[in-house]
Amino acid sequence: MNDNLEILTRAIQQWIPEDRPVSQAPSAAELEQTLDLTLSDEGCDQATLESAVRDYLHYNPDVSQAGFFKLLYSGQNKPALLGDWITSLSNATMHTYQVGPVATLMELELIRQWNKLVGFDEGEGVMVAGGSQANLIGMMLARHKACPDYKTKGAGGRTLVAYVSDQAHYSAEKAANVLGIGTDNLIAVQSDDSGRMKPEALEQAIQSSLAQGHIPFYIGLTAGTTVVGAYDPVAACSKIAKAHNIWLHIDGAWGGPILFSAQHRHLLADSHLADSFAWDAHKLMNVPLTAAVILVKQPGALKDCCSGGGGDYLFHADENAAYNLGERSIQCGRRADSLKVWLSWKAVGNKGFADKIDYLQSIKTDCVGMIEQRDRLEMLAPATYLNVLFRYRPEHITDEQELRRLNIEICKTMRSSGGAYVDYAQYKGRTGIRLILANSDVCHEDLVELLDKCERIGKQLLDR
Ligand SMILES: Cc1ncc(COP(=O)(O)O)c(C=O)c1O
Repeated sequence: MNDNLEILTRAIQQWIPEDRPVSQAPSAAELEQTLDLTLSDEGCDQATLESAVRDYLHYNPDVSQAGFFKLLYSGQNKPALLGDWITSLSNATMHTYQVGPVATLMELELIRQWNKLVGFDEGEGVMVAGGSQANLIGMMLARHKACPDYKTKGAGGRTLVAYVSDQAHYSAEKAANVLGIGTDNLIAVQSDDSGRMKPEALEQAIQSSLAQGHIPFYIGLTAGTTVVGAYDPVAACSKIAKAHNIWLHIDGAWGGPILFSAQHRHLLADSHLADSFAWDAHKLMNVPLTAAVILVKQPGALKDCCSGGGGDYLFHADENAAYNLGERSIQCGRRADSLKVWLSWKAVGNKGFADKIDYLQSIKTDCVGMIEQRDRLEMLAPATYLNVLFRYRPEHITDEQELRRLNIEICKTMRSSGGAYVDYAQYKGRTGIRLILANSDVCHEDLVELLDKCERIGKQLLDR
């Protein structure tokens, strides 16, 4: 154990703070040549393990730096990191209360708090391994409501149809695949210029399914789309869902935490109208991966839909039976993700997350203002949330493919030259630089430097 502590201490005190670029960017082929990662019959000494740990950290992008704008999380959440370490130390699992007692009670308190934010007064939930699994369970609950015998009998010739916007995360397609709905029966409903689902297009798509004798069963809205951060119109889509008796799910994996902020929660004011809600704590709340939850308005729905088996050896009918979260889950062994989320929430309170969102929204506005003032930069979509999608566009270039190549090259050059790590993304046929503002250490000067660099690299690439 002491050997482990020494390595961990060196990692924290020396290797991570080393002055190093956000991303080292070697190709997989180069890294395979550089590192010897072979396993063999014989074991090794501690020094070899230490060197492997050091290499691992060295080549991984440093997500704690302010220059890491690539993903929907960035920075370091210290209480959550402590929780992650302790979780590994305990190696608790979450199927029954007995093997994760404090973790179970913490998870139940988190679920109460999350439901309060969403507005599910009697809601329940269970923590899951990410937004993708939360969306999968949302769709499964919808299937169970529409066709309760699907769980035991299968499709039986029925065609179930699900609807998400054309901006929804690809996990909806995975869910349709896993649940046996058929990915062709997942309809990508048209979104408007801001990336929000068009309610009239949703109604039309449902009518078309009904005309074919199909069963519309699931509407999946997104709160904070992956590329541009759009919020689908919940109230209008809820009316449609109610009129057709269709399950309404909200994927708030990225944009759910807006509910912490009194100033900005109007973007998701109607969340209580949904039947289920996905929320990732490993995105904006910046808890180490993985930590997420599926929240459900109707208590008992999760167990009804997900349970099956385990009664003969695991789920004993003892005084703690009501606390066994395993029957609400599609997993057996499940990591105790509650501790790290609970510690970080306890440390800063609701107010801490609200302050973070308000600050990030203010630097987002600052950033958009600077982009709009610069002749060679342009926004590609309104930045409602914390996604800023923009591109470098000198006046004389109008060809979309040429602009795409140029902006991809800007991202690559920025990263390989030791600068910030931003990525490119496509939106409605145009390609831009997707800047994600998820780290409250980012300040005005960081953004000025980034935008200056985009322009400088763009110009250098054109002058070559
Ligand atoms: C809107 C949205 N939903 C769901 C997901 C999937 O979440 P996870 O990576 O936690 O499975 C993402 C991931 O980026 C997302 O942006």
